[in-house]
Amino acid sequence: MTVAQPQFLAQPSDICLFGATGDLAGRKLYPALYCLFRDQHLPAGCRILGLARSKMSRDEFVGQIREKLREHAPEGEFEDSVWVDFSAMLDYQPLDVHSTESFQNMASHLNDRGERPLIHYLSTSPSLYGDICRGLESVGLAGAQARVVIEKPIGTDLESSRVINSAVDAVFPESSIYRIDHYLGKETVQNLLALRFANGIFEPRWNSAGIDNVQITVAETVGVEGRWSYYDDSGAMRDMVQNHILQLLSLVAMEAPASLDPDAVRDEKVKVLRALRPLSERADIDANTVRGQYRAGALGTGPVPGYLEEEGCNPESSTETFVAIRAEINNWRWSGVPFYLRTGKRMPSRYSEISVQFRDVPHNLFAGENTDVQANRLIIRLQPQEGIQLQMMYKVRGLDGMQLRKAELNLSTEDLRPPRNAYERLLLDAVRGNQTLFVRRDEVEVAWKWVDQIMQGWESDPEGPKPYNAGTYGPTAAIALTEKHGHSWNE
Ligand code: BG6
Repeated sequence: MTVAQPQFLAQPSDICLFGATGDLAGRKLYPALYCLFRDQHLPAGCRILGLARSKMSRDEFVGQIREKLREHAPEGEFEDSVWVDFSAMLDYQPLDVHSTESFQNMASHLNDRGERPLIHYLSTSPSLYGDICRGLESVGLAGAQARVVIEKPIGTDLESSRVINSAVDAVFPESSIYRIDHYLGKETVQNLLALRFANGIFEPRWNSAGIDNVQITVAETVGVEGRWSYYDDSGAMRDMVQNHILQLLSLVAMEAPASLDPDAVRDEKVKVLRALRPLSERADIDANTVRGQYRAGALGTGPVPGYLEEEGCNPESSTETFVAIRAEINNWRWSGVPFYLRTGKRMPSRYSEISVQFRDVPHNLFAGENTDVQANRLIIRLQPQEGIQLQMMYKVRGLDGMQLRKAELNLSTEDLRPPRNAYERLLLDAVRGNQTLFVRRDEVEVAWKWVDQIMQGWESDPEGPKPYNAGTYGPTAAIALTEKHGHSWNE
């Protein structure tokens, strides 16, 4: 069987990286581009043009990127011989997004482009997206060959996200806008699609008759990592729930799309988000959400300060660093099935997983055997160790009646290849022109609408977030959120 070549792979492209000296670029984007180049996914002749405010020469810029790669490329993967060829692709131009002259210089830099695809990656503050897009348009760099990749946060609520999206939409058609949610680039997230739609055995039970509850946890051990004021403007709800967690929920709950065509998949995802039961009344919000803020405590590495003691903090802040929500999806498939969503900073361990708890067997044959029958559970682990496990019951060997035990069927392949940085996948898809793993405008807006209502309810609550000690899984109220419905968090 011959495999069709991706549409744009054979064609070299120009990748313009705005915010080229920023943190995301240094930690994730250059290592991703370097690995793609090394593995021959980026065709020879591609060019990477870094753009940022700082005035520096190409040589200085290239020197900086080399340092970033030595620090952030996967361990042992930086090779001088690859670097020589990779660095030949790099170029730099200082750019002031408010200056037409800067954009004219950029255009002359790229003047021999011909029909090459042009990828503009905006790794800047979203407040600059509109200016950058208009600047590109004014010098003819926003035409049919151009695509724009934009990062979250797209706004801080529905209203502000519309302003940002409209500024980008005014220049680029939706088919050229690639909104990144890096969780969609994670290997296990794509495996979730394979698990659900390349296997027939789950589908008949993938509904309220077969599933008791679903849990999505993104637990982090880190605190605010020196960016207190950025984090404080956002909080766990805007930083994690509105995007990463709702994206995971939509992939777990969506109907089978007719194909992997970007709009076929995104049509199904957005239907799930639209069907989320609104949490708008205060009593409903209080009963189904918990927000927390970490106090000083200890993790494996030793004592850590509380959120209100971190460097640069405002000691009055009521921003949440933890959220737990009991969500429901109002449709035939999921009616009555709780989706417990949880994320927080300074948790005891770093792990992200989706846990699908199936229903109990309808009748326990083994009740007289003094043995426990536990319902099946499917665990889709995103990190730290990616993998998929199905928990099942089996009989222990021996003559002591029917002694049952829970075993884990490991569905992960024995894949010895190192995990890829999520940005590799997404950058490659942007170069190839495949939008399936990017978020459409309507998804962003429907997610904001749901989140906004909850946040408005919280604003009218004088109590503020509940404290929890660093090194714990959030306030005790988060445990009660599941236990009052007869469930418990999978930890
Ligand atoms: C980012 C958030 O989007 O995701 C960060 O802004 C968070 O606060 C990060 O730490 C988590 O990503 P990952 O891939 O490390 O789970």
